Amino acid sequence: AHAGAVADGDGRPLVLAHRGASAYAPENTLAAVDKAAELGVRWVENDVQRTRDGELVVLHDADLRRTTDVEEVFPDRAPWKVGDFTAAEIARLDAGSWFGPAYAGARVPTLEEYVRRVEQHHQKLLLEIKNPELYPGIEGQILKVLGNEGWLDRRHVRDRLVVQSFSADSLRTVHDLEPGVRTGFLGAPPVTDLPAYAHFADQINPSYGSLSPAYVSAVHAFDGPHGRPLEVLTWTVDTADTARRVAGYGVDGIITNKPDVVRDAVRGR
Ligand code: G3P
Ligand code: CA
Repeated sequence: AHAGAVADGDGRPLVLAHRGASAYAPENTLAAVDKAAELGVRWVENDVQRTRDGELVVLHDADLRRTTDVEEVFPDRAPWKVGDFTAAEIARLDAGSWFGPAYAGARVPTLEEYVRRVEQHHQKLLLEIKNPELYPGIEGQILKVLGNEGWLDRRHVRDRLVVQSFSADSLRTVHDLEPGVRTGFLGAPPVTDLPAYAHFADQINPSYGSLSPAYVSAVHAFDGPHGRPLEVLTWTVDTADTARRVAGYGVDGIITNKPDVVRDAVRGR
């Protein structure tokens, strides 16, 4: 790893808690943020979508079935899409019991609640815009919430926030609306396309299966929109062996459900 925009410059990759410390607490809940904080993890990753009435909420899947009790509470609302429910309806759901009884009553957080908790713990946020094609205009809405919460202030923008997406269009929109915000593209574009990505993306974030040392070096050779070398964060790495391997490739960060395992693996490299 090199001293880039998110990396600490100590030669070790950063550790980022995927959907919070989601191996140990229900993903994308405040409990998963708390768990990451308890483990001393500075970066948390989340997924942001929009309710029917325009509230931003933190949830991974496009529907509510896997991680809430929506089918019990609203049995006749198939296919249970996030965008078909109001914020008040989603607030009634239990987003913790599926994971374990200790988490019964955990809620689907709003983005506002989520960033406040991250702020309380002095953590940093890798915010994923999930399924932006379903939510036209969500980029501006996300930036508005972040702005209201102080996350677009200089020091936050520089040190504590990256917005990522699988959608290059969505990231271009973020970059145009708020050029100071750092962005990460989820995927592994061909090296010949990297100059185009470098106009709006500070990071290229591929799954670890599509990574090679040569690709990481190729990405690092380009400067991003803020004049620093593009960074590479990779996901979702949950074993010590894989963590050591990708750290050896020179990645800048590792996104993991098990931040304790990955941190121990890369420590002392
Ligand atoms: O942070 C990268 C990773 O979260 C992308 O995949 O499906 O877990 O959102 P997914
Ligand atoms: Ca994600």
